[in-house]
Amino acid sequence: MITIKSWLQEAAAQLLNAGIDNARQEAEILLCQLLQKNPAYLFTWPGQELSQEQQTSLGRQLHQRLEGTPLAWILGEWEFWGLPLRVSPATLIPRADTEVLVEAALDSCVLPQARVLDLGTGTGAIALALKKERPQWKVDAVDFQPEAVALARENARHLQLDIRVWQSDWWQAVPETPGYDLVVSNPPYIHPEDPHLQQGDLRYEPSSALVGGTDGLEAYRQLLAGLPKHLRPGGWFLVEQGYDQAEALQGLFARAGLLERLTYPDYAGQPRVTRGRRQ
Ligand SMILES: C[S@@+](CC[C@H](N)C(=O)[O-])C[C@H]1O[C@@H](n2cnc3c(N)ncnc32)[C@H](O)[C@@H]1O
Repeated sequence: MITIKSWLQEAAAQLLNAGIDNARQEAEILLCQLLQKNPAYLFTWPGQELSQEQQTSLGRQLHQRLEGTPLAWILGEWEFWGLPLRVSPATLIPRADTEVLVEAALDSCVLPQARVLDLGTGTGAIALALKKERPQWKVDAVDFQPEAVALARENARHLQLDIRVWQSDWWQAVPETPGYDLVVSNPPYIHPEDPHLQQGDLRYEPSSALVGGTDGLEAYRQLLAGLPKHLRPGGWFLVEQGYDQAEALQGLFARAGLLERLTYPDYAGQPRVTRGRRQ
């Protein structure tokens, strides 16, 4: 007989063996989603027997995870800023660290009415979080992957958050007037030779969402080059960055003439977000 407790023990042991961090937590997440219960249920009813059908379904998911498939893809959705976002292989799975960018944007732009643009929106994570916090802001979002545009629109629809999403290669299809008050981006910024690309979920996510040109900084240069035409004077520009890119980013922001520059740390204390303000 396979019970909640025995399945959890076995699944966690296999995940641990496969080198997956948080093995126990991942096993609980899979079981919670299948049973449509919260984690407290698993501890309250450890002796509950799992049906054959449930075991088969869990076995399939566990197998996928042991093969390396990201947990978020197996679940089909992932939480960001308290929003359950649908995810897909077309773009990045939203990361908790990106919430620092949302916090920094809210901290910087204090206008009650603002026009906001999220460049490289992926699932729509940042744009949707900002719209949730500031319903009166007009939030636009672009991505160059048509599948990501469709995904962000789907997330906006099911969360009933009114943002506009369209396809654009960075600024190419973004109108120049009347100019944004706030532009945010979590662009691809990993160096192509960074060994992290061979680890964990990064092995599976598309390189178009991860790799920032030959030195990791290419997207930032393109974004900064478009600011004079799209960010209104006094407007804010904020980007997520790699932990080792703070100095480079500060230099690029300074050369672009941005003022009130600041680097925000992530929850592990590493530099994670750089901001600047147009004169
Ligand atoms: C690191 S992911 C960030 C996704 C999402 N904003 C987030 O924080 O979870 C970078 C995104 O930029 C998009 N992207 C890459 N190059 C782009 C380009 N030239 N124009 C527009 N979007 C681009 C990718 O498709 C991907 O969705």
